[in-house]
Amino acid sequence: MQNVTVVSHPLIQHKLTIMRDKQTSIAGFRVLLREIAHLLCYEVTRDLELELIPIETPMGPMDAPTIKGKKLVFASILRAGNGLLDGMLDLVPAARVAHIGIYRDHETLQPVEYYFKAPSELENRLIIVVDPMLATANSAIAAIDRLKRRGANNLRFLCLLAAPEGLEKFTRTHPDVPVFTAAIDSHLNEKGYIVPGLGDAGDRMYGTK
Ligand code: PRP
Ligand code: URA
Repeated sequence: MQNVTVVSHPLIQHKLTIMRDKQTSIAGFRVLLREIAHLLCYEVTRDLELELIPIETPMGPMDAPTIKGKKLVFASILRAGNGLLDGMLDLVPAARVAHIGIYRDHETLQPVEYYFKAPSELENRLIIVVDPMLATANSAIAAIDRLKRRGANNLRFLCLLAAPEGLEKFTRTHPDVPVFTAAIDSHLNEKGYIVPGLGDAGDRMYGTK
């Protein structure tokens, strides 16, 4: 599929298998999601542009590479996005953060927005939207719509698991937004859950039902 990168690094796949296992504890699930976020962050930021700045090392002056442009934005789709966000911030602590509160109605599977707070100047920043699950893609599409209405024009979407149905809809609706995922699963079930998936990511992270 165009504009979709599957990050198939063995460490990610190994950790993802443990996350999928229904025996894995809440604490274990959270730690693994944070660790995988480090590895996915490495991949989604791989082509960031660098510029040289003059610095002084203890041995003398040099022009050293630094990430160019305004600070990145990580946009977390609540709640489960925060599990990826924490790991991303470990690697890019100066990133700005947008919080987008969206849940999907269990009957209609339509997204319901309840919160939105984003940094200024979205039009001048790279925005990486994070959510572990891309199922129908309704939540991700709504989040990207919202950010674009606020001026965002340089976006990427990062998830852990995607369903083929959701990926197809997402890339059709937002062909300008590259998707990074650790796996593409088989299908969605009749309730809109990813199969085989890992269940409800928010519930498994926070111990809710
Ligand atoms: C989950 C998940 C995504 C959404 C994916 O959130 O974290 O945001 O479902 O499904 P979709 O692609 O069909 O929209 P949920 O709605 O369960 O909210 P929560 O994180 O607050 O539990
Ligand atoms: N949201 C989840 O948390 N899990 C799914 O499988 C689908 C949507």
